[in-house]
Amino acid sequence: MTATTEAPQVDKSGRRVRDMFAEIAPRYDLMNHLLSLGIDIRWRRQATRRLKLDGDLPILDCCTGTGDLAFMLARRVQGRVAVIGSDFCAPMLRLAAAKHAARHADLPVRFLEADSQQLPFEDASFQAVTVAFGLRNVQDTDRGLREMVRVCADGGQVAVLEFSQPTLPGFRQLYQAYFRHVLPRVGQRFARNNQSAYEYLPNSVMEFPSGQSLAERMEAAGLRDVVVEPLTLGVASLYIGNRLTERLR
Ligand SMILES: C[S@@+](CC[C@H](N)C(=O)[O-])C[C@H]1O[C@@H](n2cnc3c(N)ncnc32)[C@H](O)[C@@H]1O
Repeated sequence: MTATTEAPQVDKSGRRVRDMFAEIAPRYDLMNHLLSLGIDIRWRRQATRRLKLDGDLPILDCCTGTGDLAFMLARRVQGRVAVIGSDFCAPMLRLAAAKHAARHADLPVRFLEADSQQLPFEDASFQAVTVAFGLRNVQDTDRGLREMVRVCADGGQVAVLEFSQPTLPGFRQLYQAYFRHVLPRVGQRFARNNQSAYEYLPNSVMEFPSGQSLAERMEAAGLRDVVVEPLTLGVASLYIGNRLTERLR
């Protein structure tokens, strides 16, 4: 898949995206694990393992949804530093807070309602800033990336986990058929929403940059040495870049 510089085809206006996630929120976790056959859990774990997390500053997980990556990050650092999960969809955050109370009350995680295009944090506040399956939904990708980089401290890392396109011939076609035809039908049927969330999913993935295209956008936003790691034959990819000081650049 290549980066598109044309106007987006998919309606990603803040209100549409927020309403769509509010509608699917109660079934979001179940649908996620079902449609990815549980592999999404492994992808998030991979992201937490790859990050360098030995600083004293807190960690920010943007577009945190129901908080799964935020909890994993907090476990990985054994609660040594706080993790903040931000999202602009209150129903998703309510589920994250309920999960925290029920299963992760021992962890210093808190949730905050915020638009990723305008994060309510000072520059350089976090040792790491992450986003899992969220950046694709942010109306202005570059603005979202710049905000993540702005709030990340010098020497820290920014990680993006996102769907991508498998390149292996045969598997690519099979996956695309599943993604375009099976997933929207199954998703729509089980999630029962009016916002066509499971049609939006393949469409938004198809038009979103991946691989080197996204790595270049991350570097343009202020990161260095962005490493791209395809996961599960490229169904998803993990991108990690370093926020370097002016002095080191
Ligand atoms: C597909 S979910 C991903 C949730 C979670 N990170 C995960 O790994 O399951 C996308 C999330 O991004 C949030 N989101 C989309 N655009 C946003 C924006 N501009 N600011 C904040 N959150 C946003 C949605 O509300 C939703 O909770």
